[in-house]
Amino acid sequence: MSAPIDPTSTAAWSELEAHSAALVPDLRGWFADDPDRVARFSLTLGDLHVDLSKNLVTDSILESLVHLAEQTGVADRYAAMLAGEHINTTEDRAVLHTALRRPPGAEPALVVDGQDIDHDVQAVLDDISAFADRVRDGEWVGVTGKKVTHVVNIGIGGSDLGPVMVYEALKPYADAGIEARFVSNIDPTDIAQKTGDLDPETTLFVIASKTFTTLETLTNARLARDWLWTALAEAGAIDGTDAARTDAVAHHFIAVSTALDKVEAFGIDPANAFGFWDWVGGRYSVDSAIGTPLAIALGPRVFRDLLAGFHTVDEHMRTAPLAQNVPVLMGLLNVWYTNFLGAQSHAVLPYAQQLSRFAAYLQQLTMESNGKSVRWDGTPVTTDTGEVFWGEPGTNGQHAFYQLIHQGTRLIPADFIAFVNPAYPLEDGGRDVHGLFLANFLAQTKALAFGKTAEEVEAEGTTGPLVAARTFAGNRPTTSIFAPALTPQVLGQLIALYEHITFTQGAIWGINSFDQWGVELGKQLALQIAPAIEGDDEALAAQDASTQALLAYYRAHR
Ligand code: F6P
Repeated sequence: MSAPIDPTSTAAWSELEAHSAALVPDLRGWFADDPDRVARFSLTLGDLHVDLSKNLVTDSILESLVHLAEQTGVADRYAAMLAGEHINTTEDRAVLHTALRRPPGAEPALVVDGQDIDHDVQAVLDDISAFADRVRDGEWVGVTGKKVTHVVNIGIGGSDLGPVMVYEALKPYADAGIEARFVSNIDPTDIAQKTGDLDPETTLFVIASKTFTTLETLTNARLARDWLWTALAEAGAIDGTDAARTDAVAHHFIAVSTALDKVEAFGIDPANAFGFWDWVGGRYSVDSAIGTPLAIALGPRVFRDLLAGFHTVDEHMRTAPLAQNVPVLMGLLNVWYTNFLGAQSHAVLPYAQQLSRFAAYLQQLTMESNGKSVRWDGTPVTTDTGEVFWGEPGTNGQHAFYQLIHQGTRLIPADFIAFVNPAYPLEDGGRDVHGLFLANFLAQTKALAFGKTAEEVEAEGTTGPLVAARTFAGNRPTTSIFAPALTPQVLGQLIALYEHITFTQGAIWGINSFDQWGVELGKQLALQIAPAIEGDDEALAAQDASTQALLAYYRAHR
């Protein structure tokens, strides 16, 4: 892998520094003086209509941003990723989540490191589809012969956030009478609450872990297995023999992992396990076998449509010129705000209750990818990197944190995501409630962009110090993403859009967006501290003073 290009050494960076020094944001003026601005700054990406016009950029700023993408080799790096080069340098791995959504029979065939990627991807997809159909049709039954009514996914991070987000988003498509639940936290509350009202005879657990070593997941998997054995025995469905227990696991546990040997060691029949590969990063894995609970609850057709949506955006990213390339442009805008205008965070505000978990999903995608201080060759980064992503669905957020976005002192670029048609069209006294909801989306982006001047406030009769309090400066940047409806294809497009925005930023900053060493230290220390929690005084004595004091508090209050 070639050395990263220092973005700050490029001519484009100097251009952008000059632009930021001269910038006087004036969305009111820019809109008034330029009737074509909206048309020029609006783009189509699959089914998504993307309006960039309310961002703090002029044509020449955008041009310089595109120069930055050119001069830092974003397109070449994307091509290297698609081709299977080991761009994940610290783990010496290819990065091929885009291969998971190539359509069957895609040409030319993708063979990487001797593996026929397309063949293997399609084979697993076919296996998952066939298995999902068996569960949905009631052909696959529990140990007492009953159809599955609940699928409980046990996983964390990428083995949880993607599936739960997609399930919540596409729940209206669940048509087989199967509910999915998701257990992730090692806080025992999580599994206790999620299994509390379940019937063990109709529950199927999916143990999802890329590595099959994750403490939280394996602990919860053991708890689930104990719960199953106990509950089945209490119901008189099995006796306590090893054979009966093994049979129960065979009927009620499946696994998804890259480590199928470890799945078997846990006691799950490898015939009931679906594999994926080390070239799929955890936070990029919802479109791999990690999506098995989705295929079961929503159906294989829905899952394949989701993949097709991803592929549409992969192709756009590969083929669209940089100046028309939506993920590249959105990534560049994020770089502009982060590195030139001092933004430290980025809000993602879906006007869709179904996307209630989208921000949480994006937090892993963006921050585990780009929260780095070294570049892919181990040298320090030369600029600030990953911003904090956060958000909540509107309109709830409007009644919580929007005050700060409108009138606070911080610059918070925000993406608004909305859908023309609702999953649940309801009326309130003859008024379309979804229409009212969308009016809020439009109102917020308008208020943020154009604000309200003191003169406008005074014209409404306000006087004195209240004028300043009721004035809105405007020039708060937003991107609006609008689509006809939240279908599986549209959701796939949205997810892939953010994957490639993240990619673009990482490529410009010269970082490896595909490792996550920053999560390792805490894991290591938890294993060292656990014995101290359990009463080991030697382990207690080995801790720093603050940790010792907290452990003493724990012991005193048990
Ligand atoms: O702790 C971070 C992490 O490694 C994520 O990157 C990953 O998605 C998650 O843990 C879960 O890992 P696994 O799927 O191997 O259980």
